[in-house]
Amino acid sequence: MIVTLVTGGCGFIGSNFVRHILKARKRVKVINIDLLTYAGNLANLVDVEKDFADRYHFIRGDIADKRLLEEVFEQFNIDWIVHFAAESHVDRSILGPEAFVRTNIYGTFHLLETCRECWPLDDEEEIAKKRFLHISTDEVYGSLGRSGYFTERSPYAPSSPYSASKASSDHLVHAYFHTYRLPAIITHSSNNYGPYQFPEKLIPLMINNAKKGIELPVYGDGKNVRDWLYVEDHCKALLAVLEKGVHGEKYNIGANREKQNMELVEFICEYMDEKLGLRHGRSRRELIRFVADRPGHDRRYALDTTKINRSLGWKPEVLFEQGIRQTVDWYLENPGWVENIVNGTYMEYYQKQYGARLNGR
Ligand code: NAD
Ligand code: DAU
Repeated sequence: MIVTLVTGGCGFIGSNFVRHILKARKRVKVINIDLLTYAGNLANLVDVEKDFADRYHFIRGDIADKRLLEEVFEQFNIDWIVHFAAESHVDRSILGPEAFVRTNIYGTFHLLETCRECWPLDDEEEIAKKRFLHISTDEVYGSLGRSGYFTERSPYAPSSPYSASKASSDHLVHAYFHTYRLPAIITHSSNNYGPYQFPEKLIPLMINNAKKGIELPVYGDGKNVRDWLYVEDHCKALLAVLEKGVHGEKYNIGANREKQNMELVEFICEYMDEKLGLRHGRSRRELIRFVADRPGHDRRYALDTTKINRSLGWKPEVLFEQGIRQTVDWYLENPGWVENIVNGTYMEYYQKQYGARLNGR
């Protein structure tokens, strides 16, 4: 058995990854440590708890709690670490950066320190089998103009408290590889979307609001560009990196499906109109409102993914239109999942961020 410690496995990408790896690899056992912040949800893995009871173990805990991490390493012989746990929402990092510094920087630091103490870093044969996979983001490279792509060699230029905290954690991870030979690999992925994404992020927020007939808030001129990667494609890429990636290397993971925000929101509206019929005789596009821009809003992200395409043979499989339709379908088929999340704390956040209520009034 390959014992894999997943951090943040109850979040969006983490829960999709836990499900994916357990289905795809029978010789993998997953230990999931998650603090269950507002973004973590046990409901994301109820099927996994049932279907993989013998190969899945959940621990509620904080990655910034070093003693707990030591206990976990004592109890389990950890082979691979897949480190997702983070505060992940840019708008929240602008409203309050402290949690981002605590989890993304200190949390990663404690995880690295625990590995340094518990893994036999001077035993080359043993360490060759270990992996510390740090899940980072394209945002650490900063913002692009209309043309160009970030490669793994692009300089760091983070612009939000979120991306600055992720960049700091990347530097720590790289330093532990360079200094202590910790078996680390870093991946930089573009915007993910798909089932189980918390409705504060663009795509599920628009689906949820469009369903309820609430305004669709598009920041600035709506022309910011993101490259949209279906979460299952990302999970496949991460498994390829775990199995075939090289220690000390970085891999960009993107879909090459760039869209302006407005284009994306309009596509969601059109598909929902087609699927559900017009709302009171009107298209959901009429709900779109341009609102104040995000401070420091990065204009465009785009990744050159030649390295992972060529060296690991990974390519995204899901087309943009297909992925969006699947995602809309999933949210419409799982109204209970959304309703359980859109609770009092989320309402408070929504009010603070958008100055409007989520109940449509
Ligand atoms: P998410 O916000 O949905 O989930 C984060 C998870 O981490 C939650 O389950 C939360 O409870 C847990 N967590 C937070 N603080 C913790 C702590 N101190 N200890 C233990 N667990 C804690 O995030 P996501 O969108 O799934 O992103 C996962 C990772 O991927 C993050 O590191 C993020 O920076 C990175 N990433 C995300 C995207 C994207 O588009 N969502 C793209 C590139 C990279
Ligand atoms: O690029 C990878 C990053 O993608 C990840 O590292 C982050 O964890 C993840 O949250 C995501 O960051 P973004 O800021 O790109 O995603 P978000 O869904 O918040 O916003 C996508 C775009 O949509 C961005 O240009 C801002 C815009 N937007 C977002 C929201 C929530 C709106 O116009 N209106 C909104 O209400």
